Amino acid sequence: MNISNKDPLLDLEHISKRFGGLQALKDVALTLYPGEVLALAGDNGAGKSTLIKTISGVHKPDTGTIKYCGQVIHLETPHQARDAGIETIYQDLAIADNLDVGGNVFLGREIVKRICGLPFVDRRRMRQEALETLQDLDIHIHHPENPLRSLSGGQRQSVAIGRAIHWKARVLIMDEPTAALGVPEQRKVMEIIERLKKSGVGVIFISHNLNDIFQVSDRILVLRRGEKVGERLISETNHDEVVRMMVAG
Ligand SMILES: Nc1ncnc2c1ncn2[C@@H]1O[C@H](COP(=O)(O)OP(=O)(O)O)[C@@H](O)[C@H]1O
Ligand SMILES: [Mg+2]
Repeated sequence: MNISNKDPLLDLEHISKRFGGLQALKDVALTLYPGEVLALAGDNGAGKSTLIKTISGVHKPDTGTIKYCGQVIHLETPHQARDAGIETIYQDLAIADNLDVGGNVFLGREIVKRICGLPFVDRRRMRQEALETLQDLDIHIHHPENPLRSLSGGQRQSVAIGRAIHWKARVLIMDEPTAALGVPEQRKVMEIIERLKKSGVGVIFISHNLNDIFQVSDRILVLRRGEKVGERLISETNHDEVVRMMVAG
C-alpha cells in the first residue's frame, strides 16, 4: 500500500511554541496518513509531548497551522479534539482510577436514562457497551464492575485504547504508552496498534523504546531541542541513525 497516495489526516506546518524564554517547538512540520503509525522520537525535553499537545487541544501553537482532514482547525480544548476524533492517551492521565470500565470509556460522554423525568447515569449500559468494544479488540476484563485501580497497567491502558476506539477516533496519539507496562502487556498494546492501523486509524506513537518504534511504525520523525532534525521511513533507517539524529550536537 502506498500510503502517501491518500490525503493526510493531519498536516501541521510551521508549528512553534514558546514557554516564557524557552522555545519548546520551532517551525515543526508533521504529516500523518490514515492507516499509518508515525513515531516521534527525541531526547527528554526535545518537544515531543508539546507537539502532540498542540494536536490534542492542550496547547495553542504560537505560529503555524494544523489541518485535519484537509481543513484548518483551531482546537481550544482537549474535549474539542476528542469530539473531532483525535484521541490522546497519556502515560499518566489516561483514566479515572475510581471509575469502572464503563465509567472510563464514557467519561465526559455518559449515557443518561430518565426515571420519572429525572436524569440518571446508566452505568449498566455503559459497562455493557464498553465491554463489547473491548471484546472486539480481544481485551477481556474479568471484573468489569471494579474500579480501574484494581486492574493491571496493561489493562488500564487497554481501557484507554478501548475508549478511543469506541468513539471512532481517526487519530490516536499515544505518549509513552508502554513505559509503565510489563513485557506481555507491552506486546498487547503493540498488537492493538497493529489492528488500529489496519482499520485506517492514524497513530502517533511516542516512545523511548526504539525496538517498539521499529516494530510498529511506518515512519519516524526525530525532534531535537524543539526542531525537527530528521524524518525517515522505518524501512530505510536503523537504530544507529535514529540515535545519531537524536543526540547530534
Ligand atoms: N507547560 C510547560 N511550561 C513550561 N515549560 C514547558 C511546559 N511543557 C513543556 N515545557 C518545556 O518544553 C520543553 C519540551 O518539553 P516536552 O515537550 O515535554 O519534551 P519531551 O516530551 O520531548 O520530553 C522542555 O524543556 C520542557 O521543560
Ligand atoms: Mg514527553
